[in-house]
Amino acid sequence: MNTLICDSYEDMSRVAADMVGEQLAGKPGSVLGFATGSTPLGLYGELARRYRDGKIDFSKARSFNLDEYYPMKKDHPQSYSHFMEENLFSKINLASTDLPDGEAADPEAECAAYDRKIEAAGGIDLQVLGIGLNGHIGFNEPSKSYSMPTYLTKLTKSTIAANSRFFAEGEAQPTTALTMGFAAIFAARSIMLLINGSNKSAIAKKLFEGKIHTDVPACLLLLHPDVTVILDRDALG
Ligand code: PGA
Repeated sequence: MNTLICDSYEDMSRVAADMVGEQLAGKPGSVLGFATGSTPLGLYGELARRYRDGKIDFSKARSFNLDEYYPMKKDHPQSYSHFMEENLFSKINLASTDLPDGEAADPEAECAAYDRKIEAAGGIDLQVLGIGLNGHIGFNEPSKSYSMPTYLTKLTKSTIAANSRFFAEGEAQPTTALTMGFAAIFAARSIMLLINGSNKSAIAKKLFEGKIHTDVPACLLLLHPDVTVILDRDALG
C-alpha cells in the first residue's frame, strides 16, 4: 500500500486528479471506477475544472460506480445516479457511465448483469474509493463474511445514521443497496483510497496497523497489490 499524505483536502483532491489524469494519458480508453459520498467531491470538482480547461479528456473512457440504493429511482435527488450526474457526469465527456440500477425489478439479475458488464469492459483500470466511518468500502459493511459478486445488501444502522444528513427530516431513507462486492474491486488494476477529515482518523489508524481486521472491510485492501491511500493531515489524527 502506497501512502500519500497531503496538507489539505484541496491538495488531496488535486493529487487524486493527477492520478486520474496520468491513467487517462497512458490509456485513453480506461475503465474508471467511481464512488459517491462527500470524500470524492473535491476530486470530481477538480476533474470537471481540468476538463473545462482542456487539460483532460474522457471521450474514450467509461465508468462504473460502486453502488446504488435499492430500491431507488434514478431521478430521485438522493440517488447515486443523480449525485454522479450532478457532480461529475454532466460536467465531463465520458463515453459511457454505469451504476447498478436501483429501479431493477429483479435485483439479483441486475447484480449479475452488472458484473458481466464490468467484465465485458475489461475490468476496472483505476478504482476510486472512499471509506465509511465503520470501514465500509462501497456498501460492503462490516460482517463475518464478504461477498465477491455484486449483491443486494442491508445497510448497517451506523451507515444509515451517517447518510441521514442527505435526507430531509421525515423523508424515507433506503436501508438496502446494490453494491459491487470484492471481486470487481479486487480485479481493479489499481485502486486509490481517499480519506479526509478528523472523523476518519480512527478508522484510518486501523487500516495503517497493517493487520487484516476482519470487521473492517477496508483492511481487505491490504491484500491488493496496487493501492494508493491519499489522505489529508486531519485524517492522520
Ligand atoms: P463520505 O462517505 O465520503 O461521505 O464520508 C464515504 C463512504 O461512506 O464510503
